[in-house]
Amino acid sequence: ALTADDCSCIKAIWQSVSSHPDHYGGEALYRMFLSHPQTKTSFPNFDFDKDSPQIKAHGKKVVDALTEASKHLDNIDGALNKMSDLHSLNLRVDPGNFSLLTHNIIVTIADNLPDKFDCLTHQALDKFLAAVGCALTHKYR
Ligand code: HEM
Repeated sequence: ALTADDCSCIKAIWQSVSSHPDHYGGEALYRMFLSHPQTKTSFPNFDFDKDSPQIKAHGKKVVDALTEASKHLDNIDGALNKMSDLHSLNLRVDPGNFSLLTHNIIVTIADNLPDKFDCLTHQALDKFLAAVGCALTHKYR
């Protein structure tokens, strides 16, 4: 479970992330598509070039959803309930892909905010994004 210290680390770093959602979300998606090309199959007809408008627009949606979750750290499942239905019941995204995206979100934050990405923040983000992954996949069965 997230501790009070985890929550304050997440809220602090997420202020920076949420103020440039297309930049962070777009870079995380771009890294995921590059490092794990199998994730491209969820996005037919997508333009996978760096800084493509589609990647940035979708990245913004992802980060905005995480911003919403970051405001409800005591009830992440509830905050992402509709997203959970979408990903598990409609899109049927391979559940293994969530950890690929969340890993790339962490790498993106570490690369962009090296001074803020200390060990405790890393740990807190890892716990937060693991909880998000659980929230989005627990309805698969
Ligand atoms: C759509 C969030 C992980 C594939 C979306 C949307 C959001 C979102 C906010 C837009 C929903 C709407 O338009 O109403 C997230 C979050 C994730 C996550 C927070 C985890 C941190 C993934 C992963 C994949 C994926 C790992 C596949 C590799 C998709 C697809 C769509 C979508 C295919 C629909 C795109 C479209 O046609 O517009 N997601 N997502 N998502 N997501 Fe995710």
